[in-house]
Amino acid sequence: MNYLIVGGAGFMGSNFVRFLYRHLDPDSNIVILDKLTYAGRTENLKDLIDKPRVKLVKGDLCDEGLVDKVFSEEEPNYIVNFAAESHVDRSINEPAPFIRTNILCVFTLLEALRRHSFREYIHVSSDEVYGDLRDGGSADENWPLNPSSPYSASKASGDLLVKAYHRTYGIPVKIVRPCNNYGPYQHVEKLIPKTIVRALHSKPIPIYGDGSQIRDWLYVEDFCEALKTVIDRGATGEVYNIPGFNERRNIDVVRDILRLMNKPEELIRFVDDRPGHDYRYSMRGDKIRSLGWKPRTQWIDGLKKTIEWYISNRWWWEKLVSDKYFVQDTPWS
Ligand SMILES: NC(=O)c1ccc[n+]([C@@H]2O[C@H](COP(=O)([O-])OP(=O)(O)OC[C@H]3O[C@@H](n4cnc5c(N)ncnc54)[C@H](O)[C@@H]3O)[C@@H](O)[C@H]2O)c1
Repeated sequence: MNYLIVGGAGFMGSNFVRFLYRHLDPDSNIVILDKLTYAGRTENLKDLIDKPRVKLVKGDLCDEGLVDKVFSEEEPNYIVNFAAESHVDRSINEPAPFIRTNILCVFTLLEALRRHSFREYIHVSSDEVYGDLRDGGSADENWPLNPSSPYSASKASGDLLVKAYHRTYGIPVKIVRPCNNYGPYQHVEKLIPKTIVRALHSKPIPIYGDGSQIRDWLYVEDFCEALKTVIDRGATGEVYNIPGFNERRNIDVVRDILRLMNKPEELIRFVDDRPGHDYRYSMRGDKIRSLGWKPRTQWIDGLKKTIEWYISNRWWWEKLVSDKYFVQDTPWS
């Protein structure tokens, strides 16, 4: 089986490539297609890049000619698409790259899927497409899409295109909708790494609004297992939520990290809330559970492993932080 992992040099993609490599049949290969934006780094694949059955192609998913070439030369059976602009704050400042990557590049890929033979396309979506579940409840896979930010609207648009290509052209697809992931190789712009890195420097830790917003957290290794479960045992044409069953307020996430790192809560700074900020995301997970998957990693264990990874891998993130990183609390304040 040949796997094409688009966006495999980012946070979740590189973790999945590492997971897949550990479970790879001897006659299978992994090809990664990644534009290597600010979020995609060869450092994320350092231990994998020289392996004989792993290949990195640097390129843009919107490049139709390149995508055709990769399909013709590599003959992938499974295509998993992680490629995205993924940071909500950036989407508020500058939506255009989000529309391009999360919608137009998905369209380019779907058109390529019409031209080439393959076994299945797995599209990585997000819990954010369901929008704000402020009033309670948890979204199942049939819940209406109600995105709030340019990021989540672009992700929802990608999902709709994938569904349309399945229905209209019979393209074999599966969509997964993960909740917030955390773990090694996550960019320091995201909440958990940002808190760890700032705490290590004893610098202020910004929290939007009053920090009461609720997110569901899943250790990335558990996500990788869930995704492999969907590839192996999920039904074609279906959507699978991948929740962590672990809803927490942002302020409590930050407090847990500070406590584990023996740092004072006085580092916390409440800053202007993000415009349009969703209060709560929440998904039901009956469908993925029915395939036999559940998360293995307890919250505090996952946090400890993540903190230890950032402490032991300064080489990985030191290049990403500058003096500006520590003073710029929000992009709009
Ligand atoms: N991180 C999370 O908690 C989370 C939660 C739910 C859903 N998701 C979704 O999961 C996917 C992966 O998220 P992540 O956090 O790993 O993102 P990331 O930003 O760390 O990585 C994105 C990757 O896509 C690549 N990329 C961007 N534009 C590209 C293009 N035009 N062509 C080829 N490659 C391109 C980047 O170089 C990078 O390697 C995304 O689709 C995201 O929307 C993430």
